Amino acid sequence: MRFLIALLCYSGHVTATLHHLFVGAFSSPHLYAVGFDDQSLTLTLLNNITTQDSHFWITLDHQKKNLYTTSVNSWSSYAIETSETVQHRKTIPLEGNCIDSQAIFVQSLPVSPYTVYGVTFGGNRSCGNVMSVDHEGSLSRIIQSFDYQIGSGVHGLTIGPNHDVLYSADDSGNSLWAHSINSDTGQVEFLDRIAAPNYGSDPRHITVHPKGKFAYVVFEGTNKLVLYRIDPKDKTLASAKSFPLIPPGYPNSEYWSDEVRLSYSNSYIWATSRSHRSSYPGYISAFSISETGDILSQLFLTPTTTSGGMANAVAPSTSSDEFVAITDSEKGLIQIWRFTGRRTEVVATLDLRDGGCCANAFWYD
Ligand SMILES: *[C@@H]1O[C@H](CO)[C@@H](O)[C@H](O)[C@H]1NC(C)=O
Ligand SMILES: *[C@@H]1O[C@H](CO)[C@@H](O)[C@H](O)[C@H]1NC(C)=O
Repeated sequence: MRFLIALLCYSGHVTATLHHLFVGAFSSPHLYAVGFDDQSLTLTLLNNITTQDSHFWITLDHQKKNLYTTSVNSWSSYAIETSETVQHRKTIPLEGNCIDSQAIFVQSLPVSPYTVYGVTFGGNRSCGNVMSVDHEGSLSRIIQSFDYQIGSGVHGLTIGPNHDVLYSADDSGNSLWAHSINSDTGQVEFLDRIAAPNYGSDPRHITVHPKGKFAYVVFEGTNKLVLYRIDPKDKTLASAKSFPLIPPGYPNSEYWSDEVRLSYSNSYIWATSRSHRSSYPGYISAFSISETGDILSQLFLTPTTTSGGMANAVAPSTSSDEFVAITDSEKGLIQIWRFTGRRTEVVATLDLRDGGCCANAFWYD
């Protein structure tokens, strides 16, 4: 009896939180507002929003008031009105000398002038577009259009911890780029191009630790997570350690590694690979890191429930270290996985099959 009362008292103090996420789609003009209840461990579709176009990459600004997206030939911004509704504000056609290259990734600067950086992939080179925003954070106009070199195909961007360097992961060009960011205008200037250590490494996405000593890069071609040391003076990168994102002996040609992200408190990192074949799963992995961001160990390499399709993009919760969202385009779903220290497991799955979902997700709260 005493136990039962204790249990009832305890459960009375447990308050469920409904977390909100937005999910983009590769080839359907919809954006989904999704809710995740962290007590009942359920995912629900809260709103099916018809958009201007399909948006295969979405990101939020630092205040979570605006959502920036890519489409084939343009960048768009939506004002976030509530945790379930957005209002289209602006679409800007991409600019530059990069025929047949399509908008693939956007990243916003979290400090003034809050410029937004977009990059294109495919064709025979990538273009970068620097966009200004108005006082509410909606995209305003392209203030700089710059080129990478012939043969480049940049797939991911990140901003250095002092907000003074833009790093680009050049998948087709098998390299990483560093550009300095002008703190007044947000415009960029070339600093360095660092070739990947081996032919066919194909760096796809990059994340920098907030202390600025290390960067983490996913090699799509060789299916590795690679730790880079950042030079304290000139901000250039040198590879230091690498870890597998597929099991030993598995053929690299059957997989294409995807994403790397820091957990909420920056105490560990998530990374994923995708499988090219629908009957074979992709993988999710986590790494423990030191205070300064050095990788200490790989914690696990666990198969995902599907190949991931074109996604298997991880989006760590922005309020807790416990949960990470993962999107899949083979079946069209979003899942929440829980991190339990030494392993990870799926706790909720939501089917968003509409013929084009799901690209990537972003936590609103
Ligand atoms: C780049 O691609 C365009 C269109 O696909 C083509 O016309 C052009 O010759 C290519 N340029 C180079 C240098 O490969
Ligand atoms: C969202 O609505 C569209 C119709 O506007 C529909 O085609 C699509 O299947 C819906 N998505 C989901 C996941 O229900």
